[in-house]
Amino acid sequence: MDARHIIRKARDAEPLTREELLWFTKGLADGGVSDAQAGAFAMAVCLHGLGQEGRVALTEGMRDSGHVLKWDLDGPVLDKHSTGGVGDCVSLLLAPMLAACDVYVPMISGRGLGHTGGTLDKLEAIPGLSTTVTDARLRKITNEIGCAIVGATGSIAPADKRLYAIRDVTATVESVDLITASILAKKLAAGLGGLILDVKVGSGAFMKTPAEAMELARSLVDTANGAGCPTTAAITDMSQPLAPALGNGLEVAICMEVLSGNDTAAPRLRELTLQLGASLMALSGGEEAAHRTKLETALSSGEAMERFARMITALGGPPDMAEDWHTHLPKARIVGDVVAPRDGYIAAMDGEALGLAVVDLGGGRNVESDKLNYAVGFSDVVSLGEKVSRGQPLATIHADSEDDAVMAAKALQSGITIGEMPDLPPLIHERVT
Ligand code: URA
Repeated sequence: MDARHIIRKARDAEPLTREELLWFTKGLADGGVSDAQAGAFAMAVCLHGLGQEGRVALTEGMRDSGHVLKWDLDGPVLDKHSTGGVGDCVSLLLAPMLAACDVYVPMISGRGLGHTGGTLDKLEAIPGLSTTVTDARLRKITNEIGCAIVGATGSIAPADKRLYAIRDVTATVESVDLITASILAKKLAAGLGGLILDVKVGSGAFMKTPAEAMELARSLVDTANGAGCPTTAAITDMSQPLAPALGNGLEVAICMEVLSGNDTAAPRLRELTLQLGASLMALSGGEEAAHRTKLETALSSGEAMERFARMITALGGPPDMAEDWHTHLPKARIVGDVVAPRDGYIAAMDGEALGLAVVDLGGGRNVESDKLNYAVGFSDVVSLGEKVSRGQPLATIHADSEDDAVMAAKALQSGITIGEMPDLPPLIHERVT
């Protein structure tokens, strides 16, 4: 086979065969395909797509380009993936909650992207913790504790790693086909028996419209099922931050509150985690309602907190995180409230602007080499539909300097619209099976 022939077919919108796509992904992993050829291929796919069979073949080829984990465990191996949002720390809660329900969760996660936070960055706000582990360590932690939230090792889907870096510099990230294969190759390499996709829609998501979110959700569900992994998706609301805290350490703190059994600290975050968890568990049998009850018990009994604390210790974090998380989490130098400039209801929130304000505070990256400040962000953020009076706090800012705090206050005040009572969006817009 010849890369030029495959690229020419893709360029002319001719369907590629499974063999051609598997050959190309092998070339991405072993260097048989050059960077220029990979870029040209990505552009052709971006313009013309691959079709459903092509998406499955590309996903399987990229999944199989490295190690694919195999498990022999006494419970189902399940995972969740979110397309990215603001204040979205579901993974930190869901993994230990599932582990407490006898589910195994080898959760290979990512870092922040653009205005959205990343699970690995949040976890690394915990002192001493490292999410860089070998496949063997991932296996051991998953086996013994039930959940391991870690970064992808070099041996997981190397074809995706290479293609993603090339897409990043060739304006070919925005392709549903390439996004589908990229997300699923890494997830399915974890050897899952079931997967739920949380496809975010709204101001804080990458997908701003329901139609875009549905296109991606449909592609992900059909492709993952086509590649043999029972998968479902939920299109969930991101027209406001999911949790009332934004920023790495602050999101860990809110998760610790929920894991401590506090039902009111982050009601939307808690509810979505329960609903996604119940749907995910139902993929390996049983009724959602019964699974939800088990997940609630995992929180109220402290079992989920115990699993989380054990996982933190196994990843190098402090052994007393469950009891002493207030002491361990980083504190910002400047902490102060931003107040409402007028009376009214929280009518709209620009999630992307709020996420970017956290990046500007130092909580996210503008370039890959940026070092994060884990303490900064917003806490006690108001919710859509809340009534506020002039002078009442909209949120608390956690910043490294007075100048940063002033800048973040301006961003917050212009990212939150105060006006008439809005129609409140549902937490889950649609389920896709
Ligand atoms: N996340 C990924 O892992 N890949 C993409 O292409 C986009 C988001």
